Amino acid sequence: MESSKAASGVVVVTGAGGEMGHALVPWLLRCGKRVIAADLREPTSPWPEGVVAATGDVRDREFVGSLGTRFGEAPIEAVYHLAAVLSSAGERNPELAHEVNVMGSMHLLALAAERGTRERPPLFLLPSSIAVYGIADLEAKRLAGAVHEDEHCTSRTIYGLGKLAAEELGRYYASFYRQLDPQGPRHAVDFRSIRFPGILSADTVPSGGTSDYGPEMLHAAAKGEAYRCFVRPDSRIPFMTMPDAIRAIEGLATAHPARLSRRVYNVGAFAPSAAEIAAVVNRHFPGAEIAYEPHPARQAIVDSWPEDVVDHAARRDWGWSPCHDLDLAFSEYLVPRILARHTAATR
Ligand code: SER
Repeated sequence: MESSKAASGVVVVTGAGGEMGHALVPWLLRCGKRVIAADLREPTSPWPEGVVAATGDVRDREFVGSLGTRFGEAPIEAVYHLAAVLSSAGERNPELAHEVNVMGSMHLLALAAERGTRERPPLFLLPSSIAVYGIADLEAKRLAGAVHEDEHCTSRTIYGLGKLAAEELGRYYASFYRQLDPQGPRHAVDFRSIRFPGILSADTVPSGGTSDYGPEMLHAAAKGEAYRCFVRPDSRIPFMTMPDAIRAIEGLATAHPARLSRRVYNVGAFAPSAAEIAAVVNRHFPGAEIAYEPHPARQAIVDSWPEDVVDHAARRDWGWSPCHDLDLAFSEYLVPRILARHTAATR
């Protein structure tokens, strides 16, 4: 995406009210885009000029269809489909998770296909997840080490299965949509996806995820609250910071198509055990009270996710390189920003 104020493309962002949306929208505006910021909830504060808010549910096909006309007849240039029900929340309501994560993605793909042109298929960027992986047991997880995109795609969560389905639907719309038409298949979208690890943000604690023990541990310590971690101390999965996650989206979204050897990419940054996260939390917030009380079902989900991911393709194809390792995540981003917010609040 070129950084040109003259550009006037329309970009749809779903789940725009979430933290990822709040970071992406200003970037899109800086790139000269007009943005339709769709979310289930009304915006808590007004969006800047250039953004039209749309409140509704991605399960509602009519609502999604109506997004295409918020800026008149202008074609949609890109869709960033961030809305999702995460892994723990999904297990509490699998049917809802399927409707949001799979049917919602289908509605957005159909919108992009309808509102793009044969010459310029819209970019469709889907954040996917390490939840697509499902390793049989702990011994297999240890043996697998860092996993490649095409290994162990046998998720045990409805969220992971939904993300896999959405990835495959994206591949279909990108290559085979309307394949029986006399003109042959339409390359209806330029589909790209990133499988994110757990994300650590200084500003928000996620809800409904199974990697949430990482951010929960940190934010409890920052507030001086005791925390009971729902996985064992030796549990290990990859994590990254929110600013790195945003950089990854920007990197893949702006990569030249000729450089992309695949549609779905792993991205890695650091892969600590729960105990290693607790140790860094303790270093920055001495006296943090962290106890372990594993929840069997959530533990089993984390045990089925890989210890780490192989992200060579992202590094080679579009120059992926995270800025934060575990130590820098805390010393340069999480702790200074949490403390600054705390100071501002107590002033
Ligand atoms: N953060 C997600 C979850 O825990 C995994 O990508 O559901």
